[in-house]
Amino acid sequence: MNLVLMGLPGAGKGTQAAKIVEEYQIPHISTGDMFRAAIKGGTPLGKEAKSFMDKGELVPDEVTIGIVRERLSQDDTKNGFLLDGFPRTVAQAEALESLLKDLGKQIDHVVNIDVDAEILVPRLTGRWICPTCGATYHVIFNPPKVEGICDVDGSALMQREDDKEETVRRRLDVNIEQSKPLIDFYAEKGYLRTLDGDRPIDVVYADVKALLGDTE
Ligand code: AP5
Ligand code: ZN
Repeated sequence: MNLVLMGLPGAGKGTQAAKIVEEYQIPHISTGDMFRAAIKGGTPLGKEAKSFMDKGELVPDEVTIGIVRERLSQDDTKNGFLLDGFPRTVAQAEALESLLKDLGKQIDHVVNIDVDAEILVPRLTGRWICPTCGATYHVIFNPPKVEGICDVDGSALMQREDDKEETVRRRLDVNIEQSKPLIDFYAEKGYLRTLDGDRPIDVVYADVKALLGDTE
């Protein structure tokens, strides 16, 4: 199953992706995670990406398309994949179409998690992540059992650099502008499945599963 998960920053892409990839056993390809790993590794890609991410801007299309092209050519995507946060512009979506065509693949579903922008600011500023296993928590909506500590491995939780309120607002503005034409692009192709993401995490996931079930 070849999936694209889209939604504004904080809509719950990463949260739902973690559940989907565990259940359907497909690789989770998050461009945001790939850029953060490159930043951590101090690579040239990381240095370039950081200069955009810190400001809440998008990393240039050619850079982002390049890393996805490389990742989708790897063997573990043979039986499916979940793209999280890519494509984010129509240029990226067009590049993905031609890349998949070359690889003899096509998208099964584009799942769009729809949430009003105004409720996303507190979601992002209240997010805490585990630097060891990547688990995502929220101070109010999804708290760990012990404050500030990962349930899975006991690591001290951290906030993301770009979750400061000022950067969050810029990320939302940038993504809102790009998302409208992208939604139209996928609606026209007939791939688009929109879910209401303003409900509890497990309720949203039940809908995701109902939607994906018929592709099994
Ligand atoms: P990326 O890492 O992809 O960030 P994002 O799109 O801003 O999305 P987030 O990861 O912040 O949110 P999410 O939707 O995954 O929400 P989550 O599940 O964590 O990208 C970062 C940056 O990299 C970009 O700004 C850009 O610079 C660059 N980049 C990445 N991809 C790019 C591309 N294709 N092109 C160009 N540049 C690119 O949930 C958020 C919080 O809410 C959590 O605390 C969670 O616990 C909570 N929560 C989740 N679901 C619910 C719910 N249903 N109810 C209540 N709370 C919930
Ligand atoms: Zn952890």
